[in-house]
Amino acid sequence: MRVSDPKILGGLAKLDVELRPRTSLAELTSLGIGGTTDLLRIKKHESIPCLLRLLDDGGTPHKFLGGGSNLLVGDGELPWVILQLVAPEPDIVLEGNLAHVDAAADLGHTVTFCAKNDLGGMEGLIGVPGTVGGALRMNAGAYGMQIGTYVREVKVYRAADRRLETLRGHQISFEYRHTSFAPDDMMLSVTLELPSNPFKEILKGIRICNEKRRSSQPLGQKSAGCIFKNPPGASAGRMIDELGLKGHSVGDARVSDRHANFFVNAGRASAKDMLALIADVREHVQKAFGVELENEVVVWNA
Ligand code: EPU
Repeated sequence: MRVSDPKILGGLAKLDVELRPRTSLAELTSLGIGGTTDLLRIKKHESIPCLLRLLDDGGTPHKFLGGGSNLLVGDGELPWVILQLVAPEPDIVLEGNLAHVDAAADLGHTVTFCAKNDLGGMEGLIGVPGTVGGALRMNAGAYGMQIGTYVREVKVYRAADRRLETLRGHQISFEYRHTSFAPDDMMLSVTLELPSNPFKEILKGIRICNEKRRSSQPLGQKSAGCIFKNPPGASAGRMIDELGLKGHSVGDARVSDRHANFFVNAGRASAKDMLALIADVREHVQKAFGVELENEVVVWNA
């Protein structure tokens, strides 16, 4: 979709929003899949209410993009514009045990920056690609920890009320790969309260998690992490593996040989290929185990 309304185009410079026309979402997502649309890069949180009002008044549909690492975007010309925050400098400010982090900050950078300042707790998230905002929305977790545990405060833009709001940690529920944020809430920044631990100790934990991840996940390949959530008490990866579906493919969309719940783009996979593979594997699992796997990957299909 093109931003063509003169009122919107005229407002962008004043709001410090950069327009990147005809951007390929394949280049902004870790799966390397997705069509094209106009991208609006937001440099000031304060601009958001005004920008969103302009877009809504001009009838321009939009979606908020984080780091694009848990996302499958449709092919071709996309029917919405994409909004993305640009991380400020610095994107993390420490205050005792508190880390004030911009939602656009890189998650891995946040984990290591806090660790170097003797703040731990997030070792399990090392190696998880994406932004802090994306991790928050999904309550990213691994190796027995989840980011929600450390959230003290979150600043969001609430599209439903068209305003910026600060939520205390106890006002948000963080569950397995799920939070109580509304689908159109836009994460802006978070304050994490992290346990003190000497860097050397945190580094040991980081190395262990890195090693586990390297040995079990296809890190060098284009993927969106796990495609399905684990059903209660079971492992989607193990079920798919037991069915012999590693290497199963539709076009260049392929079930990883390393971890069966990772589907990789082995070349020039389209969203259509990946969606067909997801549907096919879900059907195999449903038939064999009587379990309907739920997507973990977020799908934006036109
Ligand atoms: N397994 C297999 N074959 C496979 C994959 C896994 O037999 O192809 C078996 C493993 O041997 C293990 C069990 O299944 O006994 C669980 O596997 P793993 O430890 O890899 O964990 P997982 O449940 O598949 C979850 C998260 C990952 C996270 C890891 C580590 C979900 C959907 N996935 O994977 O998160 O990194 O635990 O904590 O909850 C993600 O969210 O995108 C993600 C990758």
